[in-house]
Amino acid sequence: MTVLLRDESGGRSVCLEMVRRDAERLLAAAGMARAELSVLITDDKAMRRLNRDHRGRDKTTNVLSWPQGLEPGPDGTVVLGDIVISSQTAAREAGERGQGVNRRIRRLLVHGFVHLLGFDHERGEEEARRMAAEEEMYLSILERRQTMVSLAINVDHVATLRQARGGAEPDPVAAAAVCELAGAQGIVVHLREDRRHIQDRDVRLLRQTVKSKLNLEMAAAEEIIAIALDVGPDMVTLVPEKRQELTTEGGLDVAGQEEKIRDTVARFRDAGIPVSLFIDPDERQIEAAARVGATFVEIHTGRYSDAEDEKSREEEFNLIAAAAETAFEAGLRVNAGHGLNYLNTAPVAALPTIEELSIGHAVMARAIMVGLEAAVREMREIIRAAS
Ligand code: PXP
Repeated sequence: MTVLLRDESGGRSVCLEMVRRDAERLLAAAGMARAELSVLITDDKAMRRLNRDHRGRDKTTNVLSWPQGLEPGPDGTVVLGDIVISSQTAAREAGERGQGVNRRIRRLLVHGFVHLLGFDHERGEEEARRMAAEEEMYLSILERRQTMVSLAINVDHVATLRQARGGAEPDPVAAAAVCELAGAQGIVVHLREDRRHIQDRDVRLLRQTVKSKLNLEMAAAEEIIAIALDVGPDMVTLVPEKRQELTTEGGLDVAGQEEKIRDTVARFRDAGIPVSLFIDPDERQIEAAARVGATFVEIHTGRYSDAEDEKSREEEFNLIAAAAETAFEAGLRVNAGHGLNYLNTAPVAALPTIEELSIGHAVMARAIMVGLEAAVREMREIIRAAS
């Protein structure tokens, strides 16, 4: 399938990647493996001109579409037609509805797409009802999570136990293999500058043995960046690092050091390694994460996990939910983690835009009691049920 996507809106808030992904998923959902669809994002001025020239209506509108037919050409390709969306009208309508512009554009894309399939709400009430039902069906496909939330297990604490005696046991590399056998979809390690738990040898061996996905947590420090680029994990997560802290205490201040983070993100991107930024659920940090070109954010769930009463837990949860939505709207992929355990993970896993949860301490603490395999399986089951 081919999606010909052009952005002539001059706006900066439209997430073209999301439009492209949505258009491709719509074609796939309609069973059009060999189809061509053209999508143009434009502004009100151009939209008004199109509306006047083609429909005799001298005003702007949100979406227009031009069907080309559903019959395949000689090479078997269906040239479905054109959809044009005004991002300015979409933004206005989104504001009126209290939603983000990209959510609104998704809805308009679906509307245009269903028109191209031959439905037309202007042909009477019955047809309008059928078209609305078709739109809801396609929209629900786009809004549906495609897979369950992944569980990435942080094995730092296996290394903490090893370092307590300075020997070779327990080995985080062996632990990672057990986690994967129990269903973990990723392995996370934090190579700290002080090497208090994970060692260079662990990262290098894990690169060879991890079959799911190796996520290297690290500070944006030159020595660690060089190791990461040499080892080549599947992704890196940039975190702040303070020598005295017991664990990563707060999110990364991306907004306060945009130049440095942008440069680090670019170095990894050039090496084909996507970057996640571990940030507090704070709109300012999310916007900065999008500006510096990160692929993911990992939303810090520490304050939610540490909340001492129901009211503050709910407040912290609402911040996480809002941050996840803002990040998604900004075109970022969304992970979360820190302090999650067997009692507080389900609501976070149920958030519709979360892709992956990174969990360490709670799983390792339970593993001492029930075994590592059972501890991972139990956490996976909680996430599966919630997502
Ligand atoms: N995500 C990040 C960025 C972290 O630094 C940590 C702790 O190493 C975790 C997730 C996992 O936190 P916890 O061990 O509390 O599950």
